[in-house]
Amino acid sequence: MGSIMVYIIMRKNMKNQNKEWGISTKAVHSGQIVDIRYGSFLTPIFVQDAFINPNSNENVLRDPLSNEEYIYTRYGNPIITTVEQQIATLEGGEACLVFSSGMAAISTTLLAILAKGDHMISIKELYGQTYSLMKYELPKFGIETSFVSVSHIERIKDLIKKNTKILYLESITNPLLRVADLEKASKIAKEHEIMVVVDATFASPYNQNPLKFGADIVIHSATKYLNGHGDLIAGAVVSNIEIIRKIRQIRTKIGGNINPLDAYLLSRGLKTLAIRVERQNQNAMALARFLEKVNEVKRVYYPGLTSHPDYTVARRLLRGFGGVVSFEIAGGDEVARRFVEKLQICKKAPSLGSIHTLVTIPRDTSHHPRTGISEEELREMGINPGLIRISVGIEDIKDIISDLTGAFEKIDGLGGI
Ligand SMILES: Cc1ncc(COP(=O)(O)O)c(C=O)c1O
Repeated sequence: MGSIMVYIIMRKNMKNQNKEWGISTKAVHSGQIVDIRYGSFLTPIFVQDAFINPNSNENVLRDPLSNEEYIYTRYGNPIITTVEQQIATLEGGEACLVFSSGMAAISTTLLAILAKGDHMISIKELYGQTYSLMKYELPKFGIETSFVSVSHIERIKDLIKKNTKILYLESITNPLLRVADLEKASKIAKEHEIMVVVDATFASPYNQNPLKFGADIVIHSATKYLNGHGDLIAGAVVSNIEIIRKIRQIRTKIGGNINPLDAYLLSRGLKTLAIRVERQNQNAMALARFLEKVNEVKRVYYPGLTSHPDYTVARRLLRGFGGVVSFEIAGGDEVARRFVEKLQICKKAPSLGSIHTLVTIPRDTSHHPRTGISEEELREMGINPGLIRISVGIEDIKDIISDLTGAFEKIDGLGGI
């Protein structure tokens, strides 16, 4: 066997090179391993659980997060490093860790940063499982959370305690697409040496880089826009190298790591992030404007519409308004269910960020009574009967609108548009 002549191009001097690159160049080229034996310029997929160790080969590649040679895939793997470097570059952060799910990323990060006796402040309008983690699970470890609505974000000042360690936000919330003033909130947090953590799933790095507005840690459900094809579950965390190393120690113990095959798919999906999200931004804006004119629609929620309560904040903090639009249909949940059943192109599925247009009724899925949310809480949150959420895909907008128009025309008891 000849000696192995593998070398890395993009991993060297990454910071300097990437400064000049646009977002798609970064997505396509960051972190790739070039194997000159075959002229291969895509990182190969090494599927094994363990690597030869110790490895006396002088050309052995090291895991940049540990500075050690690769040992075991739960600790790290070359294709996982590639996707981590792609995401770190897209978010403008020093380093990234990927996980087996968005929830693995969130729970591992919180357990790495917080300890018994610590306190956290979070927005109330959270993804349901994150809310449940904070309200029911973390208290078992002596970690308490106070919640504040995006509508009253300045009230975080009143909730700060001596032991407050984290302020937790989401870039755009589900399903009413609220946009917290991250800049303002980060400023308050910094004055009190509180770390700002942002779940940036809904905005994606194409529409917002929270690190630029004062966030210390950015989290993604990479299942959504980062992968973009609806064919895997993954999570990601971006921060500085010191914080990432701390979280990595806990990832290694809890074990929520991604597998190499999914890491490859995620790496591939990421390369088209900019063109996908650009199209989704455009489609969502056109859809929101269409829905505003439909008689059967009582209200449309989209941060790109001047009628949205956070339109001004969204214009300041987002490059694009995102691919999710929600609306209330007249007649409540029963009509909403009939409407969704009539759709053909748009699929009834409780996810988002995919190239496929997906539709959900939040009161039947993410905010169903079985999740422990009462009718009173739903009303307080503004999640009214008849609310429908659409995660707009990359299909031709005329076809999405025609699908919706057909469904409006078919629902009994309403006269169409
Ligand atoms: C905003 C947000 N964060 C986190 C998650 C959890 O991600 P995953 O399903 O990849 O665990 C979701 C899932 O829908 C989400 O919408």
